[in-house]
Amino acid sequence: MKVTVVGAGNVGATCAQRIAESDVADVYLVDVVEGVAAGKALDLAEAAPLAGHSRSITGGTEYEPAEGSDVVVITAGVARKPGMSRDDLLQTNGKIVTSITEEVTRVAPDAIIIMVTNPLDVTAHIARQVSGLPRERVIGMAGALDTARFRCFIAEELGCSGVDVQAMVLGGHGDSMVPLPRHSTVGGVPISELIEPARLEEIVQRTRDGGAEIVGLLKTGSAFYAPASGVKQDEHRLLPVCVWLEGEYGIDDTFVGVPVKLAAGGVEEIIEIALTDEELAALQASAAHVRETVAKWEELKAAQ
Ligand code: NAI
Ligand code: 2OP
Repeated sequence: MKVTVVGAGNVGATCAQRIAESDVADVYLVDVVEGVAAGKALDLAEAAPLAGHSRSITGGTEYEPAEGSDVVVITAGVARKPGMSRDDLLQTNGKIVTSITEEVTRVAPDAIIIMVTNPLDVTAHIARQVSGLPRERVIGMAGALDTARFRCFIAEELGCSGVDVQAMVLGGHGDSMVPLPRHSTVGGVPISELIEPARLEEIVQRTRDGGAEIVGLLKTGSAFYAPASGVKQDEHRLLPVCVWLEGEYGIDDTFVGVPVKLAAGGVEEIIEIALTDEELAALQASAAHVRETVAKWEELKAAQ
C-alpha cells in the first residue's frame, strides 16, 4: 500500500511517521516549501532501522511520485493561532486545498482522499467538488480525534485507561460538534452511572474546546500527535468520519461527522443510529453551520 501525505508540517510529518512505523504503507510526503518534505522524509527513513520497519519514506515538492497512491492525506495549509476559529482559516486554506486537489486528481485519480486541513468539513466539500470523486472516496478526519479527546477526559476523570472508554462525537469539527454521552461507556458501563450530570457536561464542553485548549498552550500552532493518530485508522473500523450525506439523518448535500464503516475502498456504509430529538437537532444545527461556511466559501471564490 502507498500513502501520499500532502503538507509536511506538524500533522503531516507525524502522520507519515505513524503510518510507516505501524507498517501500514510506504509514504510519499509533499510540501510546497523546498526541502521540507525531502528533509523530513530522509530523517524518517534514517529512523527506520531503529524503529524496526522497512517501509519506504520519500519526499519532495513534486506530485508525480504520488502516482499509484491508494490514499492521499491532505494536511497542507495554515493552522490557527490563539483567538482564531477554524473558520478563520477558510480563505487561505480553501485556495490551498483547491490547487492540491487538482494535482492529486491528476496524478492519483484512483486514490481515496482523506482531508485534514481546517475548516475540515468545508475543505472536504471543496475536495469533493474539485475532484468529482464519489462520496465513498472523499472523507475528512475529525470525529476520530474529537472522540479520542472525549475518551481521554472521561478516563482522566475516572482514573482508568482510555482504551476501556467507548464514546462517540458527531457533527462538524467545530464549536457545534455533538458529543453523545448516551452512547458512551466504560468497560460496558454507561457513563451516566459513573459521572454526575453536571460534571459530565463540563467534560463534554472541554471536548468541544479541545482543539482551542491545545492552541492556547502551544501558542504557535495546533494539535498534531492525536490528529496524526486519528488519520492512521485501519479499514474495517466503525468510527465517526466526516462524510457527504445524501439524506441520512435528514441532512442533504453536506459533509458532517457521522458513524461510518470503513473498508479498503473508503466508506463502506454510513450507519444511522437512533438519536433523541435533542441529539438530532444538535447534529442538524451543526450541519447547518457547515452549509453556512460553504456558502461563505462560494462568495469568496466568486469575488476572487
Ligand atoms: P503546519 O503549519 O505545521 O504544517 C502545514 C504545512 O503545509 C507546512 O509545512 C506548509 O509548508 C504546508 N503547505 C502550505 N501550503 C501548501 C501547499 N499549497 N502545498 C503543499 N504544502 C503546503 O500545520 P499543521 O499543524 O500540520 O496543521 C495543518 C492543517 O491541519 C491546519 O489547517 C490545521 O488546522 C489542520 N488540522 C486539522 C485537524 C483535524 O482534526 N481535522 C487536526 C489538526 C490540524
Ligand atoms: C484540533 O482540533 C486543530 O482542528 C484541530 O486540534
